[in-house]
Amino acid sequence: MNPVTIGVIGCGPIAQAGHLPAIVKASNATLSAVCDRSQRLRDYARLVHHVPVSYADASELLADPLIEAVVIAVADQFHISLAMAALDAGKHVLVEKPLGVDVASCRQLEAHAASRGLIVQIGNNKRFDPGIAYAHDMAHTAIGRPIMYRGWYCDSLYRYIVTDNVQPTVIQADDAIRPDGNPKGDRRRYLLLTHGSHLVDTARYICGPITHVQTLLRHQDNTWCWLSSVTFANGAIGQLDLTVTIRGDHHEGFHLYASEGSIIGKTYLPWYLKSSDVEVFTHHDQTYHRPLGADGHSYKRQIEGFVAAIRGEPQRGATVLEGRAAVQVLTAMTYSAHHNGIQVAVNEMEGAP
Ligand SMILES: NC(=O)c1ccc[n+]([C@@H]2O[C@H](COP(=O)([O-])OP(=O)(O)OC[C@H]3O[C@@H](n4cnc5c(N)ncnc54)[C@H](O)[C@@H]3O)[C@@H](O)[C@H]2O)c1
Repeated sequence: MNPVTIGVIGCGPIAQAGHLPAIVKASNATLSAVCDRSQRLRDYARLVHHVPVSYADASELLADPLIEAVVIAVADQFHISLAMAALDAGKHVLVEKPLGVDVASCRQLEAHAASRGLIVQIGNNKRFDPGIAYAHDMAHTAIGRPIMYRGWYCDSLYRYIVTDNVQPTVIQADDAIRPDGNPKGDRRRYLLLTHGSHLVDTARYICGPITHVQTLLRHQDNTWCWLSSVTFANGAIGQLDLTVTIRGDHHEGFHLYASEGSIIGKTYLPWYLKSSDVEVFTHHDQTYHRPLGADGHSYKRQIEGFVAAIRGEPQRGATVLEGRAAVQVLTAMTYSAHHNGIQVAVNEMEGAP
């Protein structure tokens, strides 16, 4: 496959730990330029990864005719405007999750992308965890009609002890561009958006669109726990548990019970580069099936999937519609939790989580 030339906008933590090394390792991509307003961060990225060009301004990178596609690795509040500008410049886009911070702006990008003939992929890297990809494929082909899906994403109080050890050392800079105010200070909103976007996308990927949500929120002892009963468009019922943080190890996974089989999955922090442990039982042969998933580098595989989609293969990564739908589910969870757990129709949500 002819490699795709990629420019990375934003050289902050996720670019340093995830995207930049992932692009360098990807079999079908070339890291051709980096961009950050912070000189320290763009110099660091350029030198560590031997990148030929760096830009201070995103518009300069987008005007570079040698760049075919961009990775947008900036704060959530800037995703939509930069993705729009990239599409206007004729670039394919991989934009970090969550797609946006409200449904209306996600819809604007959706409309903007519709007629462009360019790939827009959301950074839901878990779709490129081979275990989760296997669960998706088996859920859609081998185990009949879904009955119940249960998903959980419970961040550990001790997570940064682990990630500081297994990630490359992340460089910070005072001159990095930050959104106005302090959006991360609003923990109720920030934690739901940043972690919930993984929980919801994995549920939708394996079990399909979510139509209704009932959420209870418990905030106690510096722990946020969103517990949601959900209904899927295919009639399956489900439960989603987002807890930040638990006093225990990172705890993430899923169960799916279906008419002709079942799936159990345990997911690891992505920085271990270890595929989820997944077992699929199929009723017809009375057998458990378990993939190896030797290549568990979900960030690298995400880039390879993005490039494959650009080169005409089916898009496995989350589309702009799926990114918008996830933000809509998170908005429904917020609304329901605020109203003592009432049932909310996801497609009626047009606000912001
Ligand atoms: N998929 C995952 O596993 C995962 C993990 C962590 C973070 N994320 C997501 O990645 C995104 C970025 O996270 P982060 O912690 O790296 O953010 P950050 O805000 O710390 O860093 C972003 C960088 O982008 C630069 N930047 C912003 N706007 C720019 C512009 N217009 N031109 C040039 N440079 C610009 C900033 O200077 C900053 O250095 C967030 O949306 C977050 O939710 C995803």
